[in-house]
Amino acid sequence: MRLVLLGPPGAGKGTLAALLKESLKLVHISTGDMLREEMKKETPIGQEAKKFIEKGELVPDEFVIKLIEKKLTGGKRVEHGYMLDGFPRTRKQAEDLDRILGEIRQPLDYALYMESTLPVIIQRLGGRRVCENCGALYHIRNKPPKKDKICDLCGGELYQRADDNEVTIRTRMDVYLKSTRLVIDYYQAQGKLKKLDGDKDSEEVQAVLMQIFHEDRKLNKH
Ligand code: AP5
Repeated sequence: MRLVLLGPPGAGKGTLAALLKESLKLVHISTGDMLREEMKKETPIGQEAKKFIEKGELVPDEFVIKLIEKKLTGGKRVEHGYMLDGFPRTRKQAEDLDRILGEIRQPLDYALYMESTLPVIIQRLGGRRVCENCGALYHIRNKPPKKDKICDLCGGELYQRADDNEVTIRTRMDVYLKSTRLVIDYYQAQGKLKKLDGDKDSEEVQAVLMQIFHEDRKLNKH
């Protein structure tokens, strides 16, 4: 199964992706994670991306499309069963994704749109902590680690993302409302959009989604 995960920052895209990775063995492809990895390695793309990410703005389409195209069509490409998290975010990215998937004859099954409200988003992102080693997600109140600042899964250190501060969160929200909303309309017009209530508990969101997959008889085809 091939999915894209859409929604405002903090709607729970990464959290749902971790659940689906576990239950359906889908590969999680997050452009945010890929860009942060490039930043860590200080590659030319990473150095360019840093300027935008730290302000909460979108990285220019050409960089992000190049990363995704390589992931889906390059030497070690992911063939089946994946979730694109945080991509596409502009109409240009959505059109280019259709072009890439058309060339390799791998159409998308669904665009999952996780809706969430601003107070929930601010509470979630303000308290988010991420494992620097394995990327596991925590929250200081909703999902605290067993040991302070230490990942339960691998013992790595937890950190707070530089863009998870209130000013940058508001910019990311504005950018989302301006650009990414158009992507939702794009998939709605294609009949691929499924709306999910991102404010709900993540297991509940996953259960609703499984019901959709069952009804559409998708579960044996990933
Ligand atoms: P990216 O990393 O994609 O960030 P984002 O879209 O802002 O989304 P987040 O990762 O912040 O939120 P999420 O929905 O995954 O929430 P999560 O599950 O972690 O992008 C970062 C930046 O990179 C962008 O601003 C841009 O600059 C650049 N970029 C990336 N892709 C790009 C593209 N395609 N084009 C151009 N630029 C691009 O959850 C958040 C917290 O809430 C966690 O602590 C979690 O534990 C908690 N939580 C989640 N769900 C629940 C729940 N149901 N109940 C309780 N707590 C929950």
